[in-house]
Amino acid sequence: MERLQKIIAQAGIASRRGAEELIARGRVRVNDQVVTHMGYKVDPEKDRITFDGNPINLEKKIYLLLNKPAGYVTTLSDPQGRPIVTDLLPEINARLFPVGRLDLDTEGALLMTNDGALGNYVLHPRYEINKTYEATVKGMPSAAGMQRLAKGILIDGQKTYPAQLRFLVKSRSRSKIEIIIHEGKKRQVRKMFQAIGHPVLHLKRTAYGNLQLGTLSSGKYRTLTKNDLKKLFLGKIPFTIKNIPA
Ligand code: URA
Repeated sequence: MERLQKIIAQAGIASRRGAEELIARGRVRVNDQVVTHMGYKVDPEKDRITFDGNPINLEKKIYLLLNKPAGYVTTLSDPQGRPIVTDLLPEINARLFPVGRLDLDTEGALLMTNDGALGNYVLHPRYEINKTYEATVKGMPSAAGMQRLAKGILIDGQKTYPAQLRFLVKSRSRSKIEIIIHEGKKRQVRKMFQAIGHPVLHLKRTAYGNLQLGTLSSGKYRTLTKNDLKKLFLGKIPFTIKNIPA
């Protein structure tokens, strides 16, 4: 048996204090009865708990980091029968979805979760969660070209947010550039470099926030800990995302 406020908090509806307030205001029901006194204990397996009339979701939250190989699609099914990223997670029996897509030919860090709140948070440009990419491009962009990308450039009629860029390898034939952005327009990095005349030859995502792909081999995944999620959110896990393994 668990305290009702703990269950409400675990479901990601509010912090523990916030859950107490919601209970006090009569917005939580257990087996169709409003419960307002604190410390009420419930059996999450058996009792039907609702918030504002909606059943609360107590599904265990799963957070994985996958090193996506090129050649896999990030959709959950593919009419053309190409390999999909969930093929790489055979033993996991949960409805995981990728947090942000990677193109078929892009590789690297792909967060997979069943936590919709985390997905929204990471993808919404308002929260400015950085995504870091290593782009190998044709030729060597000029300082002026790099500046244009850093300031924001028009792609598909929309200006990109400012980006951070630095050369990792400089060479006349092909260069490697780290680029950090916090939005995720379709094929954004490819279109940005294309717009300055240096098409991307190879693209890899290496980090979300400060959560690095590190030495994870291509095609492998690892389960994220609370500490990893702190890195993702730069130290402070938003209150809606609390139900995470230690
Ligand atoms: N930008 C791209 O162009 N492709 C990706 O897969 C991710 C970011």
